[in-house]
Amino acid sequence: MTGKTIITGGAGFIGSHLAARLKAQGHSLILVDNLSTGSRANVADLLDDRCQLIHADACEAVADPKLWDGVRQVYHLAAAVGVQRVIDDPAAMVHNNVEQTSAVLEAARRADASVLIASSSEVYGKCPVLPLREDMELVYGPTTASRWAYGLTKAIDEHLAIDMHRRHGLRVVIVRLFNTIGPRQVGHYGMVVPRFVERAVAGETIDVYGDGTQTRAFCDVRDITRAMMELMAKDECFGRVFNLGSDQRVTINELADRIIQLAGGTAGKRLVSYEQAFGPDFEDPAHRLPDTTRISEAIGFQPQIGLDQTLTELIELRRELLAGIGATAGGGD
Ligand SMILES: NC(=O)c1ccc[n+]([C@@H]2O[C@H](COP(=O)([O-])OP(=O)(O)OC[C@H]3O[C@@H](n4cnc5c(N)ncnc54)[C@H](O)[C@@H]3O)[C@@H](O)[C@H]2O)c1
Repeated sequence: MTGKTIITGGAGFIGSHLAARLKAQGHSLILVDNLSTGSRANVADLLDDRCQLIHADACEAVADPKLWDGVRQVYHLAAAVGVQRVIDDPAAMVHNNVEQTSAVLEAARRADASVLIASSSEVYGKCPVLPLREDMELVYGPTTASRWAYGLTKAIDEHLAIDMHRRHGLRVVIVRLFNTIGPRQVGHYGMVVPRFVERAVAGETIDVYGDGTQTRAFCDVRDITRAMMELMAKDECFGRVFNLGSDQRVTINELADRIIQLAGGTAGKRLVSYEQAFGPDFEDPAHRLPDTTRISEAIGFQPQIGLDQTLTELIELRRELLAGIGATAGGGD
């Protein structure tokens, strides 16, 4: 489906990759972003008469009916993200995430546009059963541990979206994204791969939180954005929730070793307790792995880009950035 498309959070990490892919396929784009963690630099190459960036909060921008002239679909990616931001100001994160989603769903309903909601594997909380399947019970820690607030806001987003689908027939698909990696992701909000790559390329010591035996599954952003577009193109996917990520997991220790080796082997690593890194009461799920059966059946999803390929490219881009060649750093306006 070509036509006009809105991407909220369009100047962020995943949003900027999605924008490039959609534009290459002939879509006209409106990127709505408050540039809190995204940046104009992330999308500067895309901006022209077919791709406009509106610097605003999503809930304000989508309230303007003129924005929706000719719009057929919206990818809602705007959210306060990153473990560090959630811990620093959980209340702001809760308000931001739920209010934006509620406003986007209501405006899309009025405009009769299709919607993709970017949810998160954090919705599973600390569910102990692997792999994580979309219809599982969700398990959260106590409300005194702020990190669960993020997953809860994403679960509320999902409830709002499913209700809009059931009561108003809104064409909405929900993706629970697992760890997504690629160029333009930034490390200072707690994202592990850019943090490790920056240190390894600088030959500095990598901080591994906890004992490093926790596992995660990382998927390249190009595989993720391709799948998002394929889900939106299939009517059967509306009203449904899909895990989206890789089904190959690594321990964080292995990830650090891999990055150090690919970067030339000069960096070291050390273990840092969660308490030291994030303060008391911090909890982290030991393992995360998606069951990808549902999305494989729906669109034949299989990641095409392996972890080593993405890591190698990220190390190269980091070197180019430090040498002052080309790539953008992201963050700020
Ligand atoms: N990257 C991952 O591994 C991952 C995993 C799970 C879920 N997600 C979800 O994917 C989406 C995109 O995340 P990302 O990794 O690209 O992070 P990101 O921080 O790069 O992107 C989020 C974007 O939303 C913008 N934003 C935040 N609040 C806004 C508001 N009120 N109005 C307008 N813009 C606003 C930010 O400036 C940023 O550009 C988020 O919804 C996130 O929760 C990402």
